Amino acid sequence: DLEVSTAAVAPLLATVATAVSEAIGRVRPEFAGADPVVRRSERADFQSNAALPLAKRSGEAPNRLAAELTGVIADPAVAEVRPSGPGFLNITVTDAALWTQLAARLGDARLGVGCPEHGQRIVIDYSAPNVAKEMHVGHLRTTIIGDGLARVFGFLGAEVVRANHLGDWGTQFGMLIQFIDENPEQPWHADDLGADSAVSALDGLYKAARARFDADPGFADRARARVVALQAGDPATVARWREIVAESEKAFGAIYDRLGVLLTPDDYAGESFYNPMLAETTAELLGKGVAVPSDGAVVVLSEQVTGPDDAPAALMVRKSDGGYGYDSTDLATIRYRIATLRADRLLYVTDSRQSLHFRLIFETARRAGWLTDAITVDHVAYGTILGPDGKPFKTRAGGTVRLMDLLDDAVAAARAVVAEKNPDLPAAELDAIAERAGIGAVKYADLSTSRVKDYMFDPARMTAFNGNTGVYLQYAHARIHSILRKAGEPDHARVDTAAPVEPAERALLLALDDFAAVLADVAATLEPHRLATYLYDLARTFTTFYDTCPVLTAPEPARTNRIALCRLTARTLAHGLDLLGIAAPARL
Ligand code: ARG
Repeated sequence: DLEVSTAAVAPLLATVATAVSEAIGRVRPEFAGADPVVRRSERADFQSNAALPLAKRSGEAPNRLAAELTGVIADPAVAEVRPSGPGFLNITVTDAALWTQLAARLGDARLGVGCPEHGQRIVIDYSAPNVAKEMHVGHLRTTIIGDGLARVFGFLGAEVVRANHLGDWGTQFGMLIQFIDENPEQPWHADDLGADSAVSALDGLYKAARARFDADPGFADRARARVVALQAGDPATVARWREIVAESEKAFGAIYDRLGVLLTPDDYAGESFYNPMLAETTAELLGKGVAVPSDGAVVVLSEQVTGPDDAPAALMVRKSDGGYGYDSTDLATIRYRIATLRADRLLYVTDSRQSLHFRLIFETARRAGWLTDAITVDHVAYGTILGPDGKPFKTRAGGTVRLMDLLDDAVAAARAVVAEKNPDLPAAELDAIAERAGIGAVKYADLSTSRVKDYMFDPARMTAFNGNTGVYLQYAHARIHSILRKAGEPDHARVDTAAPVEPAERALLLALDDFAAVLADVAATLEPHRLATYLYDLARTFTTFYDTCPVLTAPEPARTNRIALCRLTARTLAHGLDLLGIAAPARL
């Protein structure tokens, strides 16, 4: 019964769901196509709760319907169906089906995951730092969560457009350019300072410019004139602006490289990109009566949301001085993403304080007829990163925490942990491992927390070996590779499907079977922590398996089958971590 398979394969969960669905159609044709409500279960392998809602619809007793279904659920993979409680069905699959699944999955590069998002074009707005400012703690979550979602949707077959909505336009640049021209001795180029320090220098110049603007009316006038020059396209001013954007992008690129996120310069579509569309967007909103004039300005008054004074919440489409701002740009942006990019789905990954802003943007886009029911739009809001005091994370001096510093702290903590575990590691190797473990820890700590919750940035806890951490998962994965190296077996998909399945093997096989369902769940809820929790549970299920079932010393065919189980667990962990953007090297 040795079986080698290279075919893509449906999860057992899907096979069972189909069997229940067919049984429903057979005993109650009027309910054909109803959700079979099949889940993993503690009492059997799977459970279907379909009888309860269906019996409610037809006014019959749910346990009668469940009993009827029991007799007709038929699939070679199903060993036993038992009705239980008020109308549940407990479903057990055959041992052979479990082993067959293992073999098939090992031969499938997609690990049994289909492409349910195929045909969907999804625009994910994430990261979006501001030019001439440093990336700070506030940009960590959007960058990591957005990237995780981009990876999951991409793997599920969607066409993902990564949209890095850089803050690269606005009146502040007139002021900064004027200040730079008046203070040419101050360095701010990456070539002179390195990318990271260059953007620090720009950030400093920007603050100095602002202080001068407030203190010196002459400078303020010259700065205002410079804003006009920038908007009018004065070549020298525009060239300087481009140079500032380019230097800032180098610094963002350095952070993206370090974080290992997918964002590239091709994904930059900053606010300036939409600048040429602002006037026509405003005209269209006015023409459709969605926007209205108000004291020389143009606004959209919400029909759904009122402010504290009971007045409708408003978006500023055009200011009374004729200028455009953040609201205007987001209106032009959503219009562009729908009309030109032809998105089926739009995600905006920003913190929850922007909820009202996006509600108003979405409402306006609906009223303007851009956003139809065929398009899904979500503000993927997330909670705040807190400091050790439980308040929004600040430096000791009360300033904004630089993202680079935060990453350095995590890598230093990881270095201490790894050095303690492997005291003989050469320094260069230790540095490389610490970097991988530290960055992985930061990403995992973020992605394993329920998105809407606040969490505390605690490098020591994030990099702990034990507990729900990225380091734990990276080690769990590497440990399986070390078992496989000791096994010395070539990488084949050989499994003896006639062997009996031990309880710990069964638990692991069923956990592996869940991978596709978990990814679908992440896509449906936009909550990457469901994948993180799954991987952590999988690693622990593996540990229980490994504690109860010897692998290398087991007699055949158990040995071969268990090696296959190790291999599929390692692959599933690595693939899952990769979808979270976390490295999973075979050796740490
Ligand atoms: N640049 C903004 C910030 O740093 C975030 C932009 C988010 N995206 C958007 N389309 N508004 O807060």
